[in-house]
Amino acid sequence: MATHKNTPPIRILGEDDVHPAESISPILDSVILGDAFEVLGRLPAESVDSVFFDPPYYLQLSGRKLRRWNVKTEVNGVSEQWDSFSSWDEYDTFIAKALQLIRHTMKPNATLWAIGTYHNIFRIGKIMQDLGFWTLNDVIWVKTNPMPNWLGVRFTNATETLIWAVKDKGAKDYAFDRDAARRFGIGKVGANVWVLPICSRRERVLGDDGKKLHPTQKPIELLRRVILTSTIENAVVLDPMAGVGTTGYVAAALGRHFIMIENDERYVAGIASRFRETPPSPQALDILRTSTSVGGPDGDYLRG
Ligand SMILES: C[S@@+](CC[C@H](N)C(=O)[O-])C[C@H]1O[C@@H](n2cnc3c(N)ncnc32)[C@H](O)[C@@H]1O
Repeated sequence: MATHKNTPPIRILGEDDVHPAESISPILDSVILGDAFEVLGRLPAESVDSVFFDPPYYLQLSGRKLRRWNVKTEVNGVSEQWDSFSSWDEYDTFIAKALQLIRHTMKPNATLWAIGTYHNIFRIGKIMQDLGFWTLNDVIWVKTNPMPNWLGVRFTNATETLIWAVKDKGAKDYAFDRDAARRFGIGKVGANVWVLPICSRRERVLGDDGKKLHPTQKPIELLRRVILTSTIENAVVLDPMAGVGTTGYVAAALGRHFIMIENDERYVAGIASRFRETPPSPQALDILRTSTSVGGPDGDYLRG
């Protein structure tokens, strides 16, 4: 597999390596194993160009095993401890606190992407508006291979929503690559609909047991679109709840800097092996990503 000779292995830092109010140079291109609230609070004001915020969904799944209605396989939901909260109040406080800290780190022309499903995205959107963020677009990710509705009592949920916003209404000169947006969106004008599959096995970060390490690993192609449409080369992209590090991996491959924060050491170990096994490069992205186009077989899904 082609590798990028110039890509150094990713650095793993701890909370104490982040010194309050220092420039961000010493922590660029690293993952910080620690609590997002603690680390964000130590980052200098107006220091990052872009943020990808993919917080817990608070899916509120019951403890019991769920089975699909027509087959015997078990449903693969998100049952991890990090997705549980005791109430909507607790969840809203978590999101509001994170967004406030994130906003502080954003340069005046930085943009924020927040992603979620119908479970949480409306609350996130409301909280963002209350905090003064100004929405530029929402982008609907249509999944070409969604998880079926196993009970057959609702529509199959085949979308996630991304909210793309600036820190306030007056923000000017934010990065936007119109040509990239045209390439990725449906139709000639590049509409705010991205049609692409969920992670395939090829790009999955696996645990020692050979099973997927993270239940909500985002596809490389999704982050490729986010980063190419809304950042310029050498921009600093922050992901405060990084999971297995898709944001930093794609940013590095595309010549951007990144700062990632994640508090689960299993996922941070997964990030390290991801960077080590296939160092990020444009070629690596092409090999790993599960690509799609609206006109291809995946697009046919949309036409029903
Ligand atoms: C939806 S997942 C992110 C998935 C990621 N975008 C990817 O592609 O792998 C949310 C992540 O937030 C992390 N997280 C939750 N609370 C956190 C906190 N206080 N500090 C740091 N990370 C946190 C969880 O461990 C989880 O990995």
